[in-house]
Amino acid sequence: MHLREHIMAMGRAFLLAFAASASAVGIVTMGEVMVAGQGSPPAVFTAQQATAGKAAYAKNCASCHSPDLSGNGEISALAGPAFMETWGPRTTKQFFDYISAAMPYGQPSLTTEAYTEISAFILQSNGAIAGESALTASTSVEIRGLAAAATLTPASH
Ligand code: HEC
Repeated sequence: MHLREHIMAMGRAFLLAFAASASAVGIVTMGEVMVAGQGSPPAVFTAQQATAGKAAYAKNCASCHSPDLSGNGEISALAGPAFMETWGPRTTKQFFDYISAAMPYGQPSLTTEAYTEISAFILQSNGAIAGESALTASTSVEIRGLAAAATLTPASH
């Protein structure tokens, strides 16, 4: 059966479209983080958003990506090294735009509020910390710059 391969190919094509514009944005954002130089990463969502996002994830995403975000067979994990490898160089806005347009798979049907909350929960699950300001549909910060300092990769290349 070729359906699964087709699904995988579609997912990849979608991500490639984002990847093309991601690298330039990523470099600029990393520069800002370095200039800030405070040692603690920026906080771009509130604890309330992450808590609401946890419930919305359980309801709308966990059936495929697993309740603990570890993925299922060929369906990607949404936390951990594989997630960071794919999404770390991209922005919170790119992530929000992707899930808003594509998830739940084939039925992107949730509210803007739910997508921001789910984004907050997934970011938190990847080491980002909650703070004062709420995540919005236009928040655009490099994802790997949000993780705790210990997990940051050096910016040199
Ligand atoms: C019906 C099953 C299903 C549901 C429900 C679902 N997804 Fe997916 N998701 C997929 C499939 C299939 C792919 C494409 C293959 C892949 O990359 O895992 C995918 C891909 C993704 C990706 C890209 C992963 C990567 O790193 O390449 C993200 C992010 C994502 N889903 C988030 C979500 C979120 C958030 C929800 C809930 C709002 C959700 N998904 C609900 C099946 C599902």
